[in-house]
Amino acid sequence: MAPIPRRGVVAVTGAAGFLGGWVVRLLLDKGYRVRACVRNADDGARTDFLKAMPGYASGRLTLHSADLDQPGCFDEIFKGCHGVAHISHVSGYTDTDYIRSTCDHIIASVNGSGSVNRVVVTSSIAAVISEMDLQEIVRRPVFYEDRYPDEMNPKRTPERGQGYSMSKLIAERAFAEAAIQSGSGSASWDAITCCPGDNVGPIQSAHQKDMGPWQHNIETMLLGDYRQNDVYRPWMTVDVRDDAECHVRLLESTEVQNGERYIAWSTDMRNVEDICADIDRLLPELGYDRPQVVDPFPERIQAREADFRAIWAQSDLRNDRICAVTGVRFRSLDDSIRDCVESLLSVAKVQPRVKAKAPRPA
Ligand SMILES: NC(=O)c1ccc[n+]([C@@H]2O[C@H](COP(=O)([O-])OP(=O)(O)OC[C@H]3O[C@@H](n4cnc5c(N)ncnc54)[C@H](OP(=O)(O)O)[C@@H]3O)[C@@H](O)[C@H]2O)c1
Repeated sequence: MAPIPRRGVVAVTGAAGFLGGWVVRLLLDKGYRVRACVRNADDGARTDFLKAMPGYASGRLTLHSADLDQPGCFDEIFKGCHGVAHISHVSGYTDTDYIRSTCDHIIASVNGSGSVNRVVVTSSIAAVISEMDLQEIVRRPVFYEDRYPDEMNPKRTPERGQGYSMSKLIAERAFAEAAIQSGSGSASWDAITCCPGDNVGPIQSAHQKDMGPWQHNIETMLLGDYRQNDVYRPWMTVDVRDDAECHVRLLESTEVQNGERYIAWSTDMRNVEDICADIDRLLPELGYDRPQVVDPFPERIQAREADFRAIWAQSDLRNDRICAVTGVRFRSLDDSIRDCVESLLSVAKVQPRVKAKAPRPA
């Protein structure tokens, strides 16, 4: 199937979000025409940063209000588009019928566009490694594109916190199947999935500090609240700018096939306490007062901390497929942490907890 044409028209859902905002910026930088889909284009707190981008003044970037929950609301937006980067979240991840309906809305608008030839669907590494039984990580420690969570585990339910992972897989499959059904004629399109790791990097608008969750976790570290997360799972990261590059290059690639999925991460893994220490190491000028770790887990989990850390330490993260088809080179997590912190201070005016200055000698 064809990639999108150079300088073609691309719609981006979730354009006011952390990742979506960077995809919009990168597409503009590369000369594309961009239709940024947000829920409320008049919500300045969420959209002013898009309107400040080069391209908005000339009309190469346009903003469109659309809520995934409303069928048909992307129909007019997608007409004339060559590509769709479907990045947005949905209103909730617990109801699988609802998830299917949001996919159906986008798919119907793509089919009706008569012009879209590629959709890149944003999934997650949660659709690769979210396990109810951590022994699955011991049994299958290589994290690559053909790995899926154990979907037969009876505890894999939304009630037990698996709704996000389940929903992402529903979406991956719904789009790949719909793309096959679009046939091979002039209205055909293909669907490529991108599964990002934990996004770290600079925010572009103050409202994004509360999203993520990874940039928000860094914000809480700066404010002095420093927590273990996800049962001692290390952060498995991608810089949000590199993630955006992966999405755009997957739209452009002549190498990819319908239904394929690619993991976007640098393969850098780091424990949460090391991230916190890194803020001080990377930005000593800040005088950051590193807080003590808060461990929110019950005692029975804390008792197994060493086991859990050892399990995660064995995992083997792969990104060779996405590097091969896109040529993306991932930057180091150090750069992502530094730029995330600086953006939280400069864009969102976060006031970090700093060490008391030594009194000056009289
Ligand atoms: N951040 C990560 O570490 C990470 C990791 C793996 C995968 N992902 C995936 O990457 C995508 C983007 O993540 P992100 O961190 O950039 O998210 P984000 O900053 O929270 O942005 C998500 C956007 O989704 C939009 N949205 C939510 N519900 C919607 C609905 N019903 N209709 C239309 N738009 C809706 C919101 O739009 P408005 O602002 O216009 O209301 C929001 O800007 C998501 O699909 C997420 O699952 C993220």
